[in-house]
Amino acid sequence: MEKDIDESRRSFIATSGKALAGVAIASSIIGGTAEDASAYSYNGGYKYQKLDPGEVGEITYKNYFKRWCASSVIAGIVEPLRRQVGGKWKDFPIDAMRWAHGGMAGWGCLCGTLIGAGTVVGLITNDTDIAEEMANDLCFYYSYTELPSYQPRKIIKTKLEDMTLAGTPVCHISVGRWMAAADKAFFSDARAERCARLAANVAIETTHMLNKWKDGRYKPAHELQFNLKAHGITSQNNCMDCHGQNVPSAEIYKTLDK
Ligand code: HEC
Repeated sequence: MEKDIDESRRSFIATSGKALAGVAIASSIIGGTAEDASAYSYNGGYKYQKLDPGEVGEITYKNYFKRWCASSVIAGIVEPLRRQVGGKWKDFPIDAMRWAHGGMAGWGCLCGTLIGAGTVVGLITNDTDIAEEMANDLCFYYSYTELPSYQPRKIIKTKLEDMTLAGTPVCHISVGRWMAAADKAFFSDARAERCARLAANVAIETTHMLNKWKDGRYKPAHELQFNLKAHGITSQNNCMDCHGQNVPSAEIYKTLDK
């Protein structure tokens, strides 16, 4: 058994070595060097003009009840861009990411609002590092802000009082903590209202970042991949949420040079 695991690990390392070499070659073709294969710019042709965060929030909120989390964040940002900028935004298929609702088709993984936000950020910034910095900052905002704080101009489903700290960008845990605090079922008007307002919050935060970036003033608020480097596994600093008192150490796994 032990031997089998070692065998498969060796073949994994061999394959990932090839994959890394592939990345280096691809990046040298588009202008990077083989040594610096991590970040590169690209141009998808989606232009940006500063948006009104209030309008973005309102559109996102209204769209939620039809398009759900991911596509309504996209709609909140793309619909005003269609009017203000036009161009490629006119044909952008807002509903192509609707599958991401409920943490990907209801599987409860990453909150769909963040998938929607990350999609537009990637289209607009044209730089893999800046997009990742914004995605990272959005995860921090989502996890460590009491939400939803958005107040709609006209309430669509129901009044709402409870706000919770998700402590994580994971849909299941975020929704579950809110349901426990509000004492509401998943299939209730209140939970739909909560996710609609949360989507508006995320779209507004994303717009603030993009507006700053447009002015050349966006600076990442948080270190990139801090958790991964600190813990030796993709995660955040909340190990005990799932592992309880017995958090396994990633240090026992042999790894490539750090
Ligand atoms: C959202 C829940 C969740 C969080 C948060 C989480 N883990 Fe895990 N982790 C799991 C599950 C589930 C497994 C699979 C365990 C198994 O199948 O035995 C796992 C597996 C692991 C493994 C590999 C299995 C082992 O026993 O060695 C390591 C190492 C690990 N986690 C470390 C961490 C560390 C360190 C953190 C915090 C930085 C963390 N985890 C946060 C759920 C979580």
